[in-house]
Amino acid sequence: MSTLFDLTGRLALVTGSSRGIGRSIAEGLADAGATLVLHGRDLDRLTETRAEFVERYGEERIHAVAFDITDEAAVDAGVNEIESRVGALDVLVNNAGIQHREPLVELAREDWDRVIATNLTSAFLVGRAVARHMLPRRAGKIINIASVQTDLARPTLSAYTSAKGGIRNLTRAMTAEWAGSNIQINAIAPGYIHTDMTQKLVDDAQFNSWILGRTPAARWGTPADLAGPAVWLASAGSDFVNGQVIFIDGGMTVVV
Ligand code: NAI
Repeated sequence: MSTLFDLTGRLALVTGSSRGIGRSIAEGLADAGATLVLHGRDLDRLTETRAEFVERYGEERIHAVAFDITDEAAVDAGVNEIESRVGALDVLVNNAGIQHREPLVELAREDWDRVIATNLTSAFLVGRAVARHMLPRRAGKIINIASVQTDLARPTLSAYTSAKGGIRNLTRAMTAEWAGSNIQINAIAPGYIHTDMTQKLVDDAQFNSWILGRTPAARWGTPADLAGPAVWLASAGSDFVNGQVIFIDGGMTVVV
Protein backbone atom coordinates (compact mmCIF):
# COMPACT_ATOMS: atom_id res chain seq x y z
CA MET A 1 0.00 0.00 0.00
CA SER A 2 1.12 3.57 -0.61
CA THR A 3 2.59 5.04 2.59
CA LEU A 4 0.22 7.99 2.05
CA PHE A 5 -2.70 5.86 3.28
CA ASP A 6 -0.77 3.66 5.72
CA LEU A 7 -2.22 3.84 9.24
CA THR A 8 0.36 1.59 10.93
CA GLY A 9 0.96 2.74 14.50
CA ARG A 10 -2.05 5.09 14.54
CA LEU A 11 -4.66 4.65 17.26
CA ALA A 12 -8.30 5.10 16.21
CA LEU A 13 -11.53 5.23 18.23
CA VAL A 14 -14.70 4.46 16.24
CA THR A 15 -17.91 5.02 18.21
CA GLY A 16 -20.72 2.50 17.64
CA SER A 17 -18.34 0.02 16.01
CA SER A 18 -19.83 -3.25 17.29
CA ARG A 19 -21.99 -3.44 14.14
CA GLY A 20 -23.09 -1.71 10.91
CA ILE A 21 -21.24 1.19 9.38
CA GLY A 22 -18.98 1.73 12.41
CA ARG A 23 -17.82 -1.85 12.35
CA SER A 24 -17.03 -1.66 8.65
CA ILE A 25 -15.11 1.60 9.05
CA ALA A 26 -13.18 0.00 11.94
CA GLU A 27 -12.28 -2.96 9.69
CA GLY A 28 -11.12 -0.59 6.95
CA LEU A 29 -8.88 1.31 9.37
CA ALA A 30 -7.48 -1.95 10.81
CA ASP A 31 -6.81 -3.30 7.29
CA ALA A 32 -4.81 -0.11 6.66
CA GLY A 33 -2.72 -0.89 9.78
CA ALA A 34 -4.41 1.09 12.56
CA THR A 35 -4.68 -0.04 16.17
CA LEU A 36 -8.34 0.16 17.17
CA VAL A 37 -10.51 1.05 20.09
CA LEU A 38 -13.89 -0.50 19.39
CA HIS A 39 -16.82 1.12 21.14
CA GLY A 40 -20.50 0.49 21.86
CA ARG A 41 -23.09 0.55 24.59
CA ASP A 42 -23.99 -3.14 24.68
CA LEU A 43 -21.04 -4.84 26.44
CA ASP A 44 -21.91 -8.38 25.23
CA ARG A 45 -22.05 -7.37 21.58
CA LEU A 46 -18.88 -5.31 21.95
CA THR A 47 -17.04 -8.26 23.52
CA GLU A 48 -18.20 -10.51 20.66
CA THR A 49 -17.05 -8.03 18.00
CA ARG A 50 -13.72 -7.56 19.79
CA ALA A 51 -13.13 -11.34 19.76
CA GLU A 52 -13.77 -11.44 15.99
CA PHE A 53 -11.38 -8.54 15.38
CA VAL A 54 -8.70 -10.10 17.64
CA GLU A 55 -8.82 -13.25 15.52
CA ARG A 56 -8.06 -11.20 12.40
CA TYR A 57 -5.73 -8.49 13.67
CA GLY A 58 -4.26 -9.86 16.93
CA GLU A 59 -4.77 -9.06 20.61
CA GLU A 60 -2.37 -6.11 20.74
CA ARG A 61 -4.09 -4.03 18.05
CA ILE A 62 -7.69 -4.41 19.25
CA HIS A 63 -9.12 -2.71 22.34
CA ALA A 64 -12.70 -2.03 23.43
CA VAL A 65 -14.34 0.54 25.66
CA ALA A 66 -18.07 0.89 26.41
CA PHE A 67 -19.77 4.17 27.32
CA ASP A 68 -22.95 6.09 26.56
CA ILE A 69 -22.06 8.86 24.10
CA THR A 70 -24.86 11.07 25.43
CA ASP A 71 -23.54 11.02 29.03
CA GLU A 72 -20.97 13.80 29.45
CA ALA A 73 -19.25 12.31 32.51
CA ALA A 74 -19.12 8.83 30.93
CA VAL A 75 -17.66 10.27 27.69
CA ASP A 76 -14.90 12.16 29.55
CA ALA A 77 -14.08 9.11 31.69
CA GLY A 78 -14.11 6.77 28.67
CA VAL A 79 -11.78 8.97 26.58
CA ASN A 80 -9.43 9.53 29.55
CA GLU A 81 -9.34 5.77 30.13
CA ILE A 82 -8.34 5.17 26.49
CA GLU A 83 -5.61 7.81 26.65
CA SER A 84 -4.14 6.43 29.89
CA ARG A 85 -4.67 2.68 29.39
CA VAL A 86 -4.29 2.25 25.60
CA GLY A 87 -2.45 5.30 24.27
CA ALA A 88 -2.68 8.62 22.46
CA LEU A 89 -5.62 8.80 20.04
CA ASP A 90 -4.71 9.82 16.48
CA VAL A 91 -8.14 9.31 14.91
CA LEU A 92 -11.72 9.69 16.14
CA VAL A 93 -14.73 8.57 14.09
CA ASN A 94 -18.00 9.92 15.53
CA ASN A 95 -20.26 7.24 14.08
CA ALA A 96 -22.80 6.04 16.67
CA GLY A 97 -26.33 7.23 15.95
CA ILE A 98 -30.02 6.38 15.97
CA GLN A 99 -33.03 6.88 13.74
CA HIS A 100 -36.62 7.80 14.67
CA ARG A 101 -39.44 8.08 12.14
CA GLU A 102 -42.55 10.09 13.00
CA PRO A 103 -44.47 13.01 11.50
CA LEU A 104 -43.12 16.30 12.90
CA VAL A 105 -46.52 17.41 14.16
CA GLU A 106 -46.78 14.29 16.36
CA LEU A 107 -43.14 14.12 17.45
CA ALA A 108 -42.74 14.08 21.25
CA ARG A 109 -40.20 16.39 22.86
CA GLU A 110 -38.39 13.38 24.44
CA ASP A 111 -37.90 11.73 21.03
CA TRP A 112 -36.61 14.98 19.51
CA ASP A 113 -34.18 15.39 22.45
CA ARG A 114 -33.01 11.76 22.24
CA VAL A 115 -32.21 11.99 18.52
CA ILE A 116 -30.42 15.35 18.85
CA ALA A 117 -28.48 14.09 21.89
CA THR A 118 -27.40 10.84 20.22
CA ASN A 119 -26.68 12.16 16.71
CA LEU A 120 -25.37 15.69 17.34
CA THR A 121 -24.55 16.48 20.98
CA SER A 122 -22.58 13.22 21.23
CA ALA A 123 -20.22 14.33 18.42
CA PHE A 124 -19.62 17.57 20.34
CA LEU A 125 -19.02 15.68 23.62
CA VAL A 126 -16.73 12.95 22.27
CA GLY A 127 -15.04 15.42 19.89
CA ARG A 128 -14.36 17.86 22.73
CA ALA A 129 -12.99 15.15 25.03
CA VAL A 130 -10.65 13.81 22.34
CA ALA A 131 -9.59 17.27 21.11
CA ARG A 132 -8.48 18.18 24.65
CA HIS A 133 -5.80 15.49 24.20
CA MET A 134 -5.08 16.09 20.49
CA LEU A 135 -4.68 19.89 20.64
CA PRO A 136 -1.52 19.97 22.82
CA ARG A 137 -0.01 17.23 20.59
CA ARG A 138 -0.84 19.29 17.46
CA ALA A 139 -2.00 16.21 15.52
CA GLY A 140 -5.26 14.41 14.89
CA LYS A 141 -8.05 13.42 12.53
CA ILE A 142 -11.74 13.62 13.38
CA ILE A 143 -14.34 12.11 11.04
CA ASN A 144 -17.98 12.88 11.80
CA ILE A 145 -20.61 10.64 10.22
CA ALA A 146 -23.28 12.78 8.58
CA SER A 147 -25.93 11.56 6.09
CA VAL A 148 -27.67 12.54 2.87
CA GLN A 149 -30.15 14.02 5.37
CA THR A 150 -27.43 16.60 6.09
CA ASP A 151 -28.58 18.19 2.80
CA LEU A 152 -31.98 16.66 2.04
CA ALA A 153 -35.10 16.60 4.20
CA ARG A 154 -37.68 13.86 4.02
CA PRO A 155 -41.07 13.48 5.73
CA THR A 156 -40.95 11.79 9.20
CA LEU A 157 -37.19 12.36 9.65
CA SER A 158 -37.26 15.87 11.14
CA ALA A 159 -35.11 15.34 14.26
CA TYR A 160 -32.61 13.19 12.36
CA THR A 161 -32.37 15.73 9.51
CA SER A 162 -31.89 18.55 12.01
CA ALA A 163 -29.15 16.64 13.84
CA LYS A 164 -27.33 15.64 10.64
CA GLY A 165 -27.54 19.20 9.30
CA GLY A 166 -25.98 20.22 12.61
CA ILE A 167 -23.15 17.73 12.00
CA ARG A 168 -22.20 19.71 8.87
CA ASN A 169 -21.78 22.91 10.82
CA LEU A 170 -20.21 21.23 13.85
CA THR A 171 -17.59 19.91 11.41
CA ARG A 172 -17.04 23.49 10.23
CA ALA A 173 -17.01 24.87 13.79
CA MET A 174 -14.39 22.32 14.88
CA THR A 175 -12.35 23.23 11.78
CA ALA A 176 -12.54 26.95 12.56
CA GLU A 177 -11.06 26.38 16.02
CA TRP A 178 -8.83 23.32 15.68
CA ALA A 179 -7.46 23.19 12.10
CA GLY A 180 -4.69 25.62 13.09
CA SER A 181 -3.46 22.99 15.54
CA ASN A 182 -3.03 20.48 12.71
CA ILE A 183 -6.25 18.60 13.38
CA GLN A 184 -8.25 17.78 10.25
CA ILE A 185 -11.98 17.48 10.84
CA ASN A 186 -14.22 16.26 8.01
CA ALA A 187 -17.51 14.44 7.63
CA ILE A 188 -18.58 11.42 5.61
CA ALA A 189 -22.22 11.58 4.51
CA PRO A 190 -23.44 8.09 3.58
CA GLY A 191 -26.40 7.60 1.29
CA TYR A 192 -28.81 4.73 1.86
CA ILE A 193 -26.67 1.93 3.27
CA HIS A 194 -27.98 -1.57 3.97
CA THR A 195 -27.50 -2.10 7.75
CA ASP A 196 -29.59 -3.13 10.79
CA MET A 197 -30.82 0.49 10.92
CA THR A 198 -32.28 0.26 7.39
CA GLN A 199 -33.27 -3.43 7.20
CA LYS A 200 -36.99 -2.58 7.37
CA LEU A 201 -36.62 -0.21 4.39
CA VAL A 202 -34.77 -2.83 2.36
CA ASP A 203 -37.62 -5.27 3.09
CA ASP A 204 -40.25 -2.73 1.95
CA ALA A 205 -40.65 -3.49 -1.80
CA GLN A 206 -42.03 -0.05 -2.65
CA PHE A 207 -39.33 1.86 -0.76
CA ASN A 208 -36.63 -0.42 -2.13
CA SER A 209 -37.65 0.25 -5.72
CA TRP A 210 -37.81 4.02 -5.01
CA ILE A 211 -34.20 3.88 -3.71
CA LEU A 212 -32.99 1.96 -6.75
CA GLY A 213 -34.62 4.52 -9.08
CA ARG A 214 -33.55 7.56 -7.05
CA THR A 215 -29.86 6.54 -6.84
CA PRO A 216 -27.80 7.01 -10.04
CA ALA A 217 -25.65 4.01 -9.03
CA ALA A 218 -28.93 2.01 -8.90
CA ARG A 219 -28.14 0.12 -5.70
CA TRP A 220 -28.01 0.41 -1.92
CA GLY A 221 -24.62 1.20 -0.48
CA THR A 222 -22.84 -1.35 1.67
CA PRO A 223 -20.96 -0.56 4.89
CA ALA A 224 -17.78 -1.60 3.03
CA ASP A 225 -18.32 1.31 0.58
CA LEU A 226 -17.44 3.70 3.43
CA ALA A 227 -14.12 2.12 4.39
CA GLY A 228 -12.03 3.70 1.59
CA PRO A 229 -13.17 7.29 2.26
CA ALA A 230 -12.64 6.73 6.01
CA VAL A 231 -9.08 5.46 5.47
CA TRP A 232 -8.34 8.48 3.27
CA LEU A 233 -9.68 10.96 5.84
CA ALA A 234 -7.78 9.18 8.66
CA SER A 235 -4.49 9.19 6.75
CA ALA A 236 -1.75 11.61 5.70
CA GLY A 237 -3.41 11.57 2.26
CA SER A 238 -5.93 14.16 3.52
CA ASP A 239 -3.67 16.52 5.48
CA PHE A 240 -5.00 19.66 3.68
CA VAL A 241 -8.65 18.58 3.58
CA ASN A 242 -10.50 20.64 6.19
CA GLY A 243 -14.15 20.97 7.15
CA GLN A 244 -15.60 19.09 4.17
CA VAL A 245 -18.65 16.87 3.96
CA ILE A 246 -17.95 14.04 1.51
CA PHE A 247 -21.13 12.41 0.17
CA ILE A 248 -20.80 8.66 -0.39
CA ASP A 249 -24.26 8.14 -1.81
CA GLY A 250 -24.08 6.60 -5.30
CA GLY A 251 -24.86 10.09 -6.63
CA MET A 252 -28.22 10.56 -4.86
CA THR A 253 -27.58 14.17 -3.83
CA VAL A 254 -26.48 15.33 -7.29
CA VAL A 255 -29.67 14.44 -9.16
CA VAL A 256 -33.35 15.23 -8.71
P1 NAI B 1 -26.59 0.80 13.64
O1 NAI B 1 -27.87 0.99 14.37
O2 NAI B 1 -26.34 -0.49 12.91
O3 NAI B 1 -25.35 1.06 14.63
C1 NAI B 1 -25.34 2.17 15.49
C2 NAI B 1 -24.33 1.95 16.59
O4 NAI B 1 -24.38 3.08 17.47
C3 NAI B 1 -24.62 0.72 17.44
O5 NAI B 1 -23.39 0.05 17.66
C4 NAI B 1 -25.16 1.31 18.74
O6 NAI B 1 -24.86 0.53 19.88
C5 NAI B 1 -24.42 2.63 18.81
N1 NAI B 1 -25.12 3.61 19.67
C6 NAI B 1 -26.36 4.15 19.50
N2 NAI B 1 -26.65 4.98 20.52
C7 NAI B 1 -25.58 4.97 21.37
C8 NAI B 1 -25.29 5.61 22.61
N3 NAI B 1 -26.14 6.44 23.21
N4 NAI B 1 -24.09 5.35 23.19
C9 NAI B 1 -23.22 4.51 22.63
N5 NAI B 1 -23.43 3.88 21.45
C10 NAI B 1 -24.61 4.09 20.83
O7 NAI B 1 -26.50 2.05 12.66
P2 NAI B 1 -25.74 2.29 11.27
O8 NAI B 1 -26.71 2.17 10.19
O9 NAI B 1 -24.49 1.50 11.22
O10 NAI B 1 -25.40 3.85 11.42
C11 NAI B 1 -24.16 4.35 11.88
C12 NAI B 1 -24.09 5.84 11.57
O11 NAI B 1 -24.24 6.06 10.18
C13 NAI B 1 -25.17 6.68 12.27
O12 NAI B 1 -24.62 7.93 12.64
C14 NAI B 1 -26.20 6.86 11.16
O13 NAI B 1 -26.98 8.01 11.36
C15 NAI B 1 -25.29 7.00 9.97
N6 NAI B 1 -25.93 6.75 8.69
C16 NAI B 1 -26.51 5.54 8.40
C17 NAI B 1 -27.08 5.35 7.14
C18 NAI B 1 -27.69 4.06 6.74
O14 NAI B 1 -28.27 4.00 5.65
N7 NAI B 1 -27.60 2.99 7.55
C19 NAI B 1 -27.11 6.42 6.14
C20 NAI B 1 -26.50 7.65 6.57
C21 NAI B 1 -25.93 7.79 7.79
